[in-house]
Amino acid sequence: MTRNQPHRLSVAPMMDWTDRHCRAFHRVLSRRALLYTEMVTAKAVIHGDRARLLGFDAAEHPVAVQLGGSEPAELAEAARIAADMGYGEVNLNVGCPSDRVRSGCFGAVLMKQPALVADCVAAMIAACPVPVTVKCRIGVDDQDPEEVLPAFLGTMRAAGVRHVIVHARKAWLQGLSPRENREIPPLDHALVLRMKREFPDLEIVVNGGIASQRQVLGFLAQGLDGAMLGRAAYHDPAGVLIGADSAVWGAADPVADAAGAAGAMRPYLLRHLAGGGRLHQVTRHMLGLFAGRPGARAWRRMLSEGASAPGAGIELYDAALAAVAGQAVLHEPGHDSAHGPTRDPARDSAHDPAGAA
Ligand SMILES: Cc1cc2nc3c(=O)[nH]c(=O)nc-3n(C[C@H](O)[C@H](O)[C@H](O)COP(=O)(O)O)c2cc1C
Repeated sequence: MTRNQPHRLSVAPMMDWTDRHCRAFHRVLSRRALLYTEMVTAKAVIHGDRARLLGFDAAEHPVAVQLGGSEPAELAEAARIAADMGYGEVNLNVGCPSDRVRSGCFGAVLMKQPALVADCVAAMIAACPVPVTVKCRIGVDDQDPEEVLPAFLGTMRAAGVRHVIVHARKAWLQGLSPRENREIPPLDHALVLRMKREFPDLEIVVNGGIASQRQVLGFLAQGLDGAMLGRAAYHDPAGVLIGADSAVWGAADPVADAAGAAGAMRPYLLRHLAGGGRLHQVTRHMLGLFAGRPGARAWRRMLSEGASAPGAGIELYDAALAAVAGQAVLHEPGHDSAHGPTRDPARDSAHDPAGAA
């Protein structure tokens, strides 16, 4: 795999989180990271409102769509539609344990039906010109990952898949909520590393519990083709994505810091508002932008309290940014806070409807 591959660092598909606004924001932080959509069912792609479900901005590239389903003809048609719409990769969800998904017989339960998954991906590959990839778990329920995962990967390879993302923990289909299924089953990154040695011709990306660029670089150095980050990318987008282009691809970084990213998002927000969109639809994905940095609380509070109010506009965003800048000054080395601003600008404007309008 070359150093240019977007898979070296990707942001995971996350329902309700990685919508097009979230992806537009992440794209401001990194030009290179591969971004995944939320899962969309094949049925919805075929019968639903495509523009709403699959619409995206060309600026989001490289972007991959994730499909859910277990009916080969349906998945093939949905994959073709997604490729026609411009997605650069179509991914099949074989890892999601939620009730809704389980009842439709797709997601993680398909780890128990590798032959059916093979039929699905073979149909998708035949129907669409872009790479078809699979995101799976290491096993489900009482399966033994040491046996099940290599067998599953071998079946995928035989069906024509060249690229697999492995969430390195089992899913328990009974008794655990989707959230618990992302936390309780233990992680086994070592097994994924062994799979890369066993299947050197497959591109293998590891997912699960990865929180820093340093860890990503560590997995790359150990021979994996990439690392996919979910929650860490969402909750600390600046920590995960700013600087990634230089660290992971040796390319120039589009922004230097969180404040630069907040400024760079302004044109997108203005376009969104001018088109009749609400501030909150975009800023809800940005609450973690200053995580761990001065002003984080003011930023989060002002945007979460004010941005969903009817009519909330760019002034609120600018006020939140000014509040962060005020906090950053207070934290500058050598700053004597006795002579600095005595008001908390965040608190003032958050409770001042005029300031927050
Ligand atoms: C809110 C949320 C929604 C998710 N939705 C999906 C989904 O639609 N498809 C999928 O394959 N995984 C989904 N996942 C799982 C993530 O893609 C990822 O595999 C998991 O969070 C582990 O990675 P992490 O430890 O880096 O978060 C979701 C995770 C979260 C937190």
